[in-house]
Order: sequence, then structure tokens, then C-alpha cells
Amino acid sequence: MTTDHYLSAEAPGAGPAALPRKALSAESLPAGAALARGALLAPLSGVTDLHMRRIARRLGATATVSEMVAAEDFARGTEEARLRAEGEGVLPHIVQLAGCDPRWLAEGARLAEANGADVIDVNMGCPAKAVTGGQAGSALMRDLDQAERLLAAVRGAVSVPVTVKMRLGWDDATRNAPDLAHRAERLGYAAVTVHGRTRQQFYTGRADWAAIRTVREAVAIPVVANGDVASLDEARACLAASGADAVMIGRAAVGRPWLVAAVAAGLVGETVAEPDAAAKAELAAEHYEGLLSLYGTRMGVRHARKHLAAYADHAGGLEAPERTRLLTTTDPAEAARLLRRAFAGPAAGPESQAARLALRAA
Ligand SMILES: Cc1cc2nc3c(=O)[nH]c(=O)nc-3n(C[C@H](O)[C@H](O)[C@H](O)COP(=O)(O)O)c2cc1C
Repeated sequence: MTTDHYLSAEAPGAGPAALPRKALSAESLPAGAALARGALLAPLSGVTDLHMRRIARRLGATATVSEMVAAEDFARGTEEARLRAEGEGVLPHIVQLAGCDPRWLAEGARLAEANGADVIDVNMGCPAKAVTGGQAGSALMRDLDQAERLLAAVRGAVSVPVTVKMRLGWDDATRNAPDLAHRAERLGYAAVTVHGRTRQQFYTGRADWAAIRTVREAVAIPVVANGDVASLDEARACLAASGADAVMIGRAAVGRPWLVAAVAAGLVGETVAEPDAAAKAELAAEHYEGLLSLYGTRMGVRHARKHLAAYADHAGGLEAPERTRLLTTTDPAEAARLLRRAFAGPAAGPESQAARLALRAA
């Protein structure tokens, strides 16, 4: 099973400061408790690479979760799986594993723990055919006994906290997330995350936050609500409708890793200043350079494209030819220059306009 399927498997229409550290720093929290409140960066296959997680966490995201890692590939030592599970500098380091064989999931979990994972999360929500066809991801919601065997294997393999991420069910007729969550709780799972859609919905419609309440009522462990949260107001509404303890933000944070920190802070009544345009450009450039050094230039440039496009589109300051140049350059200095130009964009005030003109001249 490979893992880079989320993008290709999406249904049509799917889109892609500092926190009060005294309250929420990983240092002061048991790793599992990081899931008990706040705002987390969701696992996004092909997107939430080491550097995106590092940046989001440093800015104040309560926690971040690795991209889905195929347990068998990881246990067999493939380079791609190793990079996905990399967590140096990310605390707590939550590694998400996917698979359909208890032995491989257990082996992957053991290895992840040995390599420093603070929490192991099990993927039971991926809707992609390439994953569900192999009876992994959300396909497990069609066979809760098998799901339970896998959860037990992971629980038995490690001593760090374990969590599971699921959807509401396979389809409308089988919304069995409360049952799966209950089984996880009985096995000693520390928390569950629920994306408020069924597998058959893929990413269509709106996430049903109120339906997550059925899970909240079924278990006593922390419940993390997920789906379509893109602002503090939406996070509050999601928590109110679901009764969940924390929110998890995915697509809305792509190109805006600072969003998760702003929501996390807002949920505990704090505000954090959004990084200014220059700081955002610096963060985006740091992310880009990190990807080149993590994957090497050729792969790194390819991997970085979706991030650079998202940064540029949120910033809104590049003309089409400059945007193309940004997505294809292999020169970090040029990328940084274009990112600064993007963030000093046309929507900004006269001061930034002047900065933009100065950058053009540079
Ligand atoms: C491109 C992409 C990749 C994803 N990869 C994963 C993954 O590796 N593991 C996982 O549990 N969910 C994955 N998801 C699902 C998200 O974690 C999240 O549940 C979903 O996007 C809904 O949250 P959002 O509306 O905040 O994005 C992915 C979603 C997208 C769009």
C-alpha cells in the first residue's frame, strides 16, 4: 500500500504568535493530553511534512500529526515512509500509521516509538480507493471487529499513548463512529479524532459537527472534532455543536500554518498577533528551504510546489508569470525574493505597496 492518495482520491469539489506556552506547551503536558484541548494541525498526506509541522507547532499549534505512514513500508525501512515519520524538533511528535495487518501495524508502531514518537495515531479515516481497496483507512469502519484487532495490536506494541482518527462511518446507513470510539476507549486509547463526514461523502458537502456529538457521548476520553474549520469562530461553533474537546484543522492551514496557532490561542481566550507580511514570507521561505534539504533539490522542489502555490495564493501578490517562476525555481534565494514580493501584495496598504515596488526594483 502506498500513501500518497488523498489528493488523487478526493471527490470533485474538494479543496485542498505564540500560544500561551504555560498552558499548552508540550513540555508541561503529557503527550496524550495534547489532544485534550486546543487546535491541532491535521495529518495531510503529501502536505504536513516535517517542516510544516515544525513551523505550525513553533507558532503555537497545540500539536501536529505526521502524514499517514504506511506501517508496512515503514517497518520495511523505505525512505519515503521514514521521511513521512520524521519528527525531529516537533514536540509532541505524533506519527500516524495506516495498514490492514496487525503484525505490520504493531511493528511500525514499535519502530516509531523507538525513533522518538510521543503518540501513535491509527488511520481509520482515509477514503481513497487505493487505501480502502487494501482494507485499510476508512474501509475498517465496515468491519469493526477487524478494526479492533488492529487497534489492539498497536496498543499492545507500544507504551506511548495511542489514538485513532476516523470518519462518522462508511456511509449514512452505518454511522458507527461511536462504536469504534468505544472499542478504542476499552483498549486504552487516549483520544479519538472524528472527521464529520462519512467515507462515501469523501470531501463533499459540509462536515457534520453535530454528528460528532454521538461520539462525544459514547466515550469519556478526549474527542477531537475535524472538518471544515477555518477560523476561530468556526472552531468555537464546531466545539459547541460537537461537544468535542479540541479541533483539528487541515486544508485551511495549507499556505497559512499560523492559522492553527491563532485558533489555539483564541480558544483559551488569548490573542496572538498574526505574523506580518515579512514574517510570513520568512516562514514560507524557511519551509521551502527545509523541504529542499529534507528531500534534496529535485524532489524538494516538486514537494514544495503545493506549499508555494498556497502561500502565494493566500498572499495574493504575484502576477501569473512570477507565480510560475516561484513554482519552478530551484534557487532558494529567488524563491525567498518572490515570496516576499507575494506577501507584499497588491491587497496591502501603501507602505507595503512601496516595499513591493522596492522589491521589484531589487
Ligand atoms: C490532501 C489531503 C491529505 C490528507 N491526508 C490525510 C492523512 O494522511 N491522514 C488522515 O488521517 N487524514 C488525512 N486527510 C484528511 C484530513 O486530515 C482531514 O480529516 C480532512 O481534510 C477534513 O479536515 P479539514 O476540513 O480541516 O481539511 C487528508 C486530507 C487531504 C485533503
